Amino acid sequence: MPASLPLRIPVFQAPMFLQSGPEMVIACCRAGIVGTFPSVNARSTAELEQWLQRITTETDRGRDAPWAINLMMHSSNTRRFEDLELAVKYRAPIVISALGSPKDAVASVQAYGGKVFADVIDTRFAAKAVEVGVDGLVLVAAGAGGHTGQQAGFAFVEEVRQFWDGDIVLGGGISSGRGVRAAQVLGANYAYMGTRFIATEESMAVPEYKQMVVAARGADIICSDALTGVKANWLRASLVKAGYDPDNMPEAGAVDIIKSSSDAKRWRDVWSAGQGVGAVNDILPIAALVDRLEREYRAACEV
Ligand SMILES: Cc1cc2nc3c(=O)[nH]c(=O)nc-3n(C[C@H](O)[C@H](O)[C@H](O)COP(=O)(O)O)c2cc1C
Repeated sequence: MPASLPLRIPVFQAPMFLQSGPEMVIACCRAGIVGTFPSVNARSTAELEQWLQRITTETDRGRDAPWAINLMMHSSNTRRFEDLELAVKYRAPIVISALGSPKDAVASVQAYGGKVFADVIDTRFAAKAVEVGVDGLVLVAAGAGGHTGQQAGFAFVEEVRQFWDGDIVLGGGISSGRGVRAAQVLGANYAYMGTRFIATEESMAVPEYKQMVVAARGADIICSDALTGVKANWLRASLVKAGYDPDNMPEAGAVDIIKSSSDAKRWRDVWSAGQGVGAVNDILPIAALVDRLEREYRAACEV
């Protein structure tokens, strides 16, 4: 599947609560892939405006890859409309909605030529996003870091391709350039990579978190809805450190995305990552990581 965005390789660095900020976005765009961040990583709309000023000043629309802002559209995110206004003011090239409908973003973003991608965890939500006129879908498959889908990537892309021929970004366990190529062969246009980017110099993760991602294997990832009310993948060792028994996680609480998200303490104490940790073996500057991903991707294209 061809990628229409002007990228060096068809990769979006995925938005990560507390971990992706301006440094990561700017480094990714300069390296030639889409850099993204959740708007709520800025603690206020005033801080978000400073971040947007920095990102628009330090990236060059002609030379660098486009950036994207991730908006949590769940009703419990009381900042969602203010943050959307800022995204429009700074003409975000791409807005990625998550945890709620992209409906409120579509008209205002498309009006200035921006694109709206909807992050969805199953086919039902994908169909709803298509109905409201999005430009692209981000399919978050099983094994992803953060709030994860439960559908296998192979099955998910095939099912969505039966009713959608627009852009698809596939996420969930992709950690190498070979994985990026595989996503394309499967029918996606781009790969969405979060976990791999935790272990980079520009990530806001504390050093112990980065080390834990490097040390962990797929079996160290525990899927539980106990912490946020929605199924998410967590690093076993961080659950133990925070006092949980990973093999007997408590029942889910009520769904309150923003309370649990803005309750940064929980995400600060318990660290999320996806099954792709099994192929993350080092902490690199983003420029070096993208160089490597490109080498792996090109080699896989020749097979
Ligand atoms: C630590 C962490 C935090 C995340 N926070 C968010 C978030 O705030 N918003 C969002 O849409 N997705 C979030 N995600 C999900 C990612 O955007 C993406 O779907 C996922 O990382 C892709 O799978 P991978 O981790 O296997 O590469 C998060 C993922 C991680 C690992």
